[in-house]
Amino acid sequence: MASPFNEQQQARFDAELPKILQRFPEGHKSAAMLPALWLVQEILGWIPEPAMELVAGCLGVPPVRAREVATFYVMFHTEPKGRHVLDVCTSISCSLCGAESALVYLEKQLGIKAGQTTQDKKVHLREAECLASCGTGPMLQVDGGEYVENLTPKKIDERLARLRRD
Ligand code: FES
Repeated sequence: MASPFNEQQQARFDAELPKILQRFPEGHKSAAMLPALWLVQEILGWIPEPAMELVAGCLGVPPVRAREVATFYVMFHTEPKGRHVLDVCTSISCSLCGAESALVYLEKQLGIKAGQTTQDKKVHLREAECLASCGTGPMLQVDGGEYVENLTPKKIDERLARLRRD
């Protein structure tokens, strides 16, 4: 099986996976699937098929178990994404507060549609289900962590300007 990593990436994986596995009792290494896949995504930015096979092998489960998990959770990317991932919640509370308008504005500013990546590979835009910020919608999640709430075109422009500088 070809490694999904270059030499430096492989060294990081080899150093960090044992630390993750330490947190799980002997005989239950398969429970480390989420953090092990997360480690791969931190290293590569996404989780290609060979990486799923590698993780499955390390955890002693069939590759299909890793694929099931990687494809179930939206926070895992099974295709290459942009350097930054923007999620716009379009569930009911945010929708009532104007999420669709915010999404259309973002699409216009980025020159892409939701589900696409900008040509310079800097930004991938997605539509997302509720991100637990319902009282401050419409909202935007940046790179799976930072929330930009009560979105306005001005706030979107400011955040995009910062992303472009990164
Ligand atoms: S509905 Fe948008 S965060 Fe909950």
